[in-house]
Amino acid sequence: MLKKSSISVKVILTKGALKFASPLSFSALGADAVYTSNDSFSLDEDNISLHLSLSRWADLILIAPASADFIAKCANGISDELALTTVLAFNKYSDVIVAPAMNSMMYENPLTSKNIEDLKNLGASFVDSEVGALADLSVGKGRLADEEKIFEKVMYMLEEKKLFLGKKFLITAGATREYIDPVRFITNGSSGTMGFSLARAAKMLGGKVYLVKGHTTARLPFVDAIFEVDTTEDLLKETRKLFSEIDILIMAAAPVDFKPKVEATHKIKKQKELLLSLKAAPDVLKSLYNNKKNQIIVGFALETEDLIKNAKEKMNHKHMDIVVANKNSNIGKENGSVTIIDKYGKSIIIENKSKDEIAQEILLFLKNFMEKEVRDGKK
Ligand code: CTP
Repeated sequence: MLKKSSISVKVILTKGALKFASPLSFSALGADAVYTSNDSFSLDEDNISLHLSLSRWADLILIAPASADFIAKCANGISDELALTTVLAFNKYSDVIVAPAMNSMMYENPLTSKNIEDLKNLGASFVDSEVGALADLSVGKGRLADEEKIFEKVMYMLEEKKLFLGKKFLITAGATREYIDPVRFITNGSSGTMGFSLARAAKMLGGKVYLVKGHTTARLPFVDAIFEVDTTEDLLKETRKLFSEIDILIMAAAPVDFKPKVEATHKIKKQKELLLSLKAAPDVLKSLYNNKKNQIIVGFALETEDLIKNAKEKMNHKHMDIVVANKNSNIGKENGSVTIIDKYGKSIIIENKSKDEIAQEILLFLKNFMEKEVRDGKK
């Protein structure tokens, strides 16, 4: 099916795969090249190790059928055969599709679930196994997904990868801290999940992603570069440094707005009452405005009341192009509802979706916004 769609396909058979199919079958189906683990130490015509040249050549790697063993090895960086060294050297998990196939007991084993979760966190996409008759004649989840479905996923991802091709994103995520003394600080409960989902989605859609992260508890995404910051001032400095290089800024970070007027140099001793005097920490978006050229700015508005009205006002006075209005009831929850609004007044409501799904919706909205600006001659 891939060959019929004029896609170049190179096949690597694992030792296990060789027990089911021969290299000749794939050559006969029109594969551009077929390799096995016997080729592990071969060089290509330019004298480059095969796993390196294959990983540079591919736009996308499809692992199908992916056994529990292969998934476990991939998730742990084990590379004891050509297919694994190639995935490890490829290093762009947002361009890896995994279609698992195994016995349902192995599928449901918590170790397999953890390995799948780890690969997802690195950005890999899965075409989920289906429920049906398995090799041991039992019925359960673990059957390789329908080949049409796998094919569609490949085609969709090859298409998707073009959406933000050549675009550089700067995404901020997580909470900052403002110190009262060397061991105590003011912060907020941001986990970084939304920013990380956006970073993963932006990578998946072909963008180059720089991530500036404050304090987070969510699993790190796989992106082009990560910069760690502590205070709101640090966040401003790091963001400002990168701002001139990028096309799109997504401010998903939750910077602390206040800092103690004086930061004690020693740990403050216990006392009956302590009054803290706070002053404003820098506002990152407002401060960046002077450096703005063609960058598109997507910001968030976290509100407890008058969500839409306040979000629109925030968009205007913080010079955002798009605002994602977020209720505080979304914080810390797995699913959430948001309203996305652009500066021309277009808006969409996203109800009860996962953070990954919300991230994708935000980026599709952004893509439409960018296309409209080009159409209207604004960019
Ligand atoms: N933001 C920022 N600098 C700050 C605080 C927030 O750049 N010091 C950004 C956030 O990353 C977000 C947007 O501004 O994209 C709005 O953040 P929000 O917390 O909703 O608003 P605040 O500006 O803090 O305003 P308020 O607390 O008064 O609602």
